[in-house]
Amino acid sequence: MARFSAWFALLGIAALAGCSGGGPDADSGAITVGFSQVGAESEWRTANTRSVKEALAEPEFRLKFSDGQQKQENQIKALRSFIAQRVDVIAFSPVVETGWDTVLQEARAAGIPVVLTDRAVQVPDPSLYVTLIGSDFVEEGRRAARWLIEDAAGRSSPIRVVELQGTVGSAPANDRMQGFREVVETDARFQIVRSQSGDFTRARGKEVMEAFIKAEGRQKIDVLFAHNDDMAIGAIQAIEEAGLKPGEDIRIVSIDGVRGAFEAMKAGKLNATVECNPLLGPQLAQLIRDVHARKEVPKRVVVEEGVFTRDQADAELPNRKY
Ligand code: AHR
Repeated sequence: MARFSAWFALLGIAALAGCSGGGPDADSGAITVGFSQVGAESEWRTANTRSVKEALAEPEFRLKFSDGQQKQENQIKALRSFIAQRVDVIAFSPVVETGWDTVLQEARAAGIPVVLTDRAVQVPDPSLYVTLIGSDFVEEGRRAARWLIEDAAGRSSPIRVVELQGTVGSAPANDRMQGFREVVETDARFQIVRSQSGDFTRARGKEVMEAFIKAEGRQKIDVLFAHNDDMAIGAIQAIEEAGLKPGEDIRIVSIDGVRGAFEAMKAGKLNATVECNPLLGPQLAQLIRDVHARKEVPKRVVVEEGVFTRDQADAELPNRKY
């Protein structure tokens, strides 16, 4: 809470200096929001963009949306453009964790509050943003590992695991690696034999899985842990093309819980998916209203999520909203 107050104290100083708010929509009474999205790398991201756009389509908001195409430089440019346009609130999902200090200081100097959505930043001064709404990615990695340990009950060692990481330097890749290792390392049967980034996309997931299969040669891969469903779906293609049965010869657990993952589970090709809810729009809109009204908001808002397995896919598929 102290940090929250510190942010608004600084905002007050910026406002007194004549640089707060008052952008092009000041007269309409609408809250102008500059939103910088990571890109369109996955089914998850598409659902997240839809949710944010729908929630901020309410007449009380004016949305300026920018797609960063998975490049930090594009996102920094977008944030600078929002600052120049004097938006009321900036919201963004940072592609990687580091390298935001300068632009966030510029936003603060302009008196514009920043709300982080989905992914975290690492900054020496956390008061540079007001709040972060998103999943607990460390816990998601732990959940994937716990599922694996349960699934491997009665199996003997070694269990050879390959890992498809998300975008290098991103919060979900860093945190999921950490959470997964924390749990899997408690069970000596598991060995992570290969780990490489597939950048959260299907195409890269397939390419990297092909490389894993080739590099392992005659050595059996028992398990694939993919940091998202899209990479797992790409990898499933690679496994099939190598003449193996995904979900049988190689057990697969991934993260997100998108419709494509439920279809793969229904077809018996994916064993489990850990939910990561992209439908953040309504909660983000409420946070933006509160931040704009200078109400107190929690520094961190965590989204509730579960784990789904192959035997639940049939019943759950019709209920999936993304
Ligand atoms: O930041 C959330 C992650 O980003 C999702 O797990 C992944 O699918 C997306 O690209």
